[in-house]
Amino acid sequence: MLIGLLLFATTAAIAQVVTRTVPQLEGPTPAMETGAAAILPKWIVDDQRKMRAYPDQPPVIPHSIEGYELSVNANRCLSCHKREFTQDSGAPMISVTHYMTRDGQMIADVSPRRYFCTACHVPQANTQPLVRSTFKDMSELGFKPAGSE
Ligand code: HEC
Ligand code: HEC
Repeated sequence: MLIGLLLFATTAAIAQVVTRTVPQLEGPTPAMETGAAAILPKWIVDDQRKMRAYPDQPPVIPHSIEGYELSVNANRCLSCHKREFTQDSGAPMISVTHYMTRDGQMIADVSPRRYFCTACHVPQANTQPLVRSTFKDMSELGFKPAGSE
């Protein structure tokens, strides 16, 4: 009985310490309280296509998407990025994978699973990371790149 109580007390104490060391993504406001809304970030809209952190990363959006409709009825993104419109818009074509069904079957139009662009492609802002990141580019992990000799 006493051992059980002691065990309970120590586990509870450890749990408290652990919850305090886990970074709180939502900020310092306690979970059940309403905090002030964060200021909207200023998006980077310099039209510079950014390097991808790994080859199949969805590239980030380097331009403004303010006011672009993206709904069941209209997709403003496709009006520039669809194959048929890229010559006039100068936009990079949505990649070939966006024309494939999940079984790898090629189709004539954008696949429904690639329709809502902003589920994967996001604009960028200069903000402080919420948690420390030790991410390393895979090219820094010590292999010999092809064609480097
Ligand atoms: C008016 C035409 C136009 C519209 C509309 C448009 N884009 Fe773009 N997009 C471009 C152009 C041009 C580029 C090339 C870089 C630049 O000039 O900004 C680009 C670049 C991109 C890139 C970077 C590609 C890469 O390889 O780095 C992404 C991702 C992207 N757009 C996503 C979107 C999404 C998502 C939408 C809709 C919310 C959208 N775009 C709407 C013209 C457009
Ligand atoms: C389910 C996630 C997902 C959705 C939804 C999606 N994409 Fe992508 N997109 C990716 C990934 C992953 C890549 C990079 C790998 C690849 O090409 O498949 C990519 C690549 C791209 C590229 C770069 C193509 C190139 O050859 O450089 C453009 C432009 C792009 N997407 C635009 C769009 C637009 C516009 C939409 C909406 C119609 C869209 N994407 C919807 C995941 C997505």
